[in-house]
Order: sequence, then C-alpha cells, then structure tokens
Amino acid sequence: MSITSRVRVTFDRVRAEDREAVERLLRLAPELSLYYRPQLFDRWLREGDFIKAVDADGNLVGVIHARHLEGYLWLEGIAVSPDIRRKGIARQLASYVISSSGEEVVRVMAHERNAPSNQLALSLYFKPVDYVYFCDGKDVQAKEIAEALRLREVESPKGVPGYVDDWAWRPIELYRGRFLGSRDIIIMETEPVFVAVGDLDGYRRFGRVRAACSEGFIVYELRLRR
Ligand SMILES: CC(C)(COP(=O)(O)OP(=O)(O)OC[C@H]1O[C@@H](n2cnc3c(N)ncnc32)[C@H](O)[C@@H]1OP(=O)(O)O)[C@@H](O)C(=O)NCCC(=O)NCCS
Repeated sequence: MSITSRVRVTFDRVRAEDREAVERLLRLAPELSLYYRPQLFDRWLREGDFIKAVDADGNLVGVIHARHLEGYLWLEGIAVSPDIRRKGIARQLASYVISSSGEEVVRVMAHERNAPSNQLALSLYFKPVDYVYFCDGKDVQAKEIAEALRLREVESPKGVPGYVDDWAWRPIELYRGRFLGSRDIIIMETEPVFVAVGDLDGYRRFGRVRAACSEGFIVYELRLRR
C-alpha cells in the first residue's frame, strides 16, 4: 500500500511513558469521548498494536490502536494533533498499522456526523458494510434486562449482518452468546447490550434501530490481497 503525506513522521509503539502526551492528544479529540476512558490506555498498551506518529522534533502528533479480532484487524482511537491535521498523518498511521498487521480484513466504525473520519476511511478504499446505532441510558447486563422484561432464549433472528460488542463490530457468525427475546424485541449478551430486533428505550445499548437518542455509526471494511 502506498503511503502519501505532506509531513515527515516516524512510527513507534506507544510506551507507558507516553501516557501524558497521548491523553493530551485525545483530550483534543472530543469525537472519541463516547468510548475512550483513561483505563483504555493500559489495555491498549497490553493488547493489540498501539502506535504513535512522532514528528521531526520528537513530538507525539498522532495515535492509533488496532485490535486483532477473530480473523480481522479492528481500528480505533485514531487522532491527530489539531494543528497538524489534513497533512496525511492519519492516512499514514492507518496505512502503517494495516500493512504491518498482516491481516487481510480490516474494519473500523465512524460516527455518521464525523466527516473527517468517514472521508479518511473512504480515502483508504474502505467500503461501508453496516450501520448501527448507539443510545446511552441505564447500564445493565442482558441477564438483568431479560429478567425485567421476561425475555426467553430464542432462535437467531434472520437478516442481521453484524453486532457490536466491546465497541467493536463483528459479523453475526462470530456470536457465541444467547439471543433473548419476546414478540417485539431480541437482545444479545454483549457489552453494552446489542438490540438485534426492535429497541429498548432507557438502556445503554447498541442496536439496529434509529431511536430519538441515536448516535449513528457507519461500519467500514477493507479487504486486501496479501
Ligand atoms: C480523523 C482524523 C484522525 C484525520 O486526521 P488527519 O491527519 O487530518 O487526516 P489526513 O490528513 O491523513 O486525511 C486523509 C484523508 O482523509 C480525508 N479527510 C481528513 N480530514 C478531513 C476533513 N476535515 N474534511 C474532509 N476530508 C477529510 C481526506 O480524504 C484526506 O485526504 P486529502 O487531504 O488528500 O483530501 C482527525 O481529523 C482527528 O484527529 N479527528 C479527531 C478524532 C477522530 O474523530 N477520530 C476518528 C474516530 S473514528
């Protein structure tokens, strides 16, 4: 994959001592505040590929994290310093993580109103494959909702291409939990709960239905030949 940029940066793994610089950068990216929590820094250091872009003066000017999920790479947490945006750094970061990962399938999710993020995915030849919705609310496990609403185990619903668990989109074939439902609703045992059919007002959830509180996310996929 060719990497084009109008600024020279180098890449390296993020280290524990980069915490302050990374968190300063992420504070300037409110687009990530829906899911980024300080505990994620430690998790991203332990798991997956946590990569920084450093300019010629040694300043950390960009970061990205990639998780190796079941047969694909999941990109998240990409951010570039506001004073140096639109110079090709995010494209370089994403290209670097993708090409060094060895994975043939790469996926990422972008908020529907985040134009730079969507345009970045499209500029890297990602194709949209799904649309999901997030709504905040009471944070409870599927089991508690099932008890409150008297849901029982049901068959897997038809026509559901994928779901979100732990803030990563997954194709439905990878789901190993139960589907819990009634006549109008089917939920999945994910974190937060994913509503596969219908909707569940008042609970923190991802789902397939656009509700009044919806934050829409477009899921993108890139398939490479290695
Ligand atoms: C999204 C983000 C990482 C892009 O970083 P960047 O270094 O400015 O992006 P690049 O310069 O590499 O842009 C690559 C391509 O993305 C698209 N793009 C990036 N920013 C854009 C913008 N503001 N408007 C339209 N298209 C944009 C363009 O196609 C661009 O190519 P071009 O400049 O040759 O036209 C940056 O805007 C950012 O940090 N945003 C806040 C955090 C965030 O939203 N992260 C994404 C969460 S999924």
